[in-house]
Amino acid sequence: MRINQKSELAFYERAFKHHKDRRERRYGSWEYTPSKSVAEIVRKNKLNVGSKDKRELDAGCGDGRHIQFFRSLGFSVVGVDFTANSIKVCQARFSRDKSVRLKRIDLTQRRALKALGMFDVANDWSVLDHIRGKYFKAYVKNISDAVRPGGFLILSEFDRSIPGLYKGRNYKIIKGHYFRAFSVDELLKIFKDFILVDKKERVLEDKINKYRFNTVLLKKPEK
Ligand SMILES: C[S@@+](CC[C@H](N)C(=O)[O-])C[C@H]1O[C@@H](n2cnc3c(N)ncnc32)[C@H](O)[C@@H]1O
Repeated sequence: MRINQKSELAFYERAFKHHKDRRERRYGSWEYTPSKSVAEIVRKNKLNVGSKDKRELDAGCGDGRHIQFFRSLGFSVVGVDFTANSIKVCQARFSRDKSVRLKRIDLTQRRALKALGMFDVANDWSVLDHIRGKYFKAYVKNISDAVRPGGFLILSEFDRSIPGLYKGRNYKIIKGHYFRAFSVDELLKIFKDFILVDKKERVLEDKINKYRFNTVLLKKPEK
């Protein structure tokens, strides 16, 4: 498989080797329980209505906490991630569930999702914020194109208040691992073809690192 951001891949492969508890201490708390913001936004906006016939794309699925969440609501789910370890963890976790499909994909490759069809909901929790400038456009296009007209996109990305941002810059790099922060307005500009439906701003989602996130629910207009 071709990979663009090799230092990111190395970071995540290392992270996924650790047992959950050790990983949380070293890397932060982004595994196992779904993000409260995502769960609230999904329920409040009734995305779960009729979900037995709906498909969710979990982009950068990690350990599969949001796969689990969307399955619990009835969606069939496709989880994609570029780390072999993450796909392995999810394959074991959902081995008995025929409504979960997993695929190892680098989401910065052009047309990476083309073969998977379109989705009613796509969820990106802290993936866009690790994509470097050179690959950003391809990633945004892949995610945008995967949402069907009338479907939804949920983004949860670092807020600009995250500690340690470089002066005057909206990103930082720690040991080759890239973090970019976004305001809600910036997210809307990037996904300009979508309409803002709901948002949760500056929510502390990683208590270990004190990282705050903005979650937005966007809708792709019907054609
Ligand atoms: C911060 S973790 C979040 C994991 C998951 N979304 C969650 O909510 O727990 C970011 C995830 O995105 C994946 N990822 C980062 N860049 C990617 C890329 N270019 N293609 C596919 N997955 C990627 C990482 O392997 C990792 O699993």
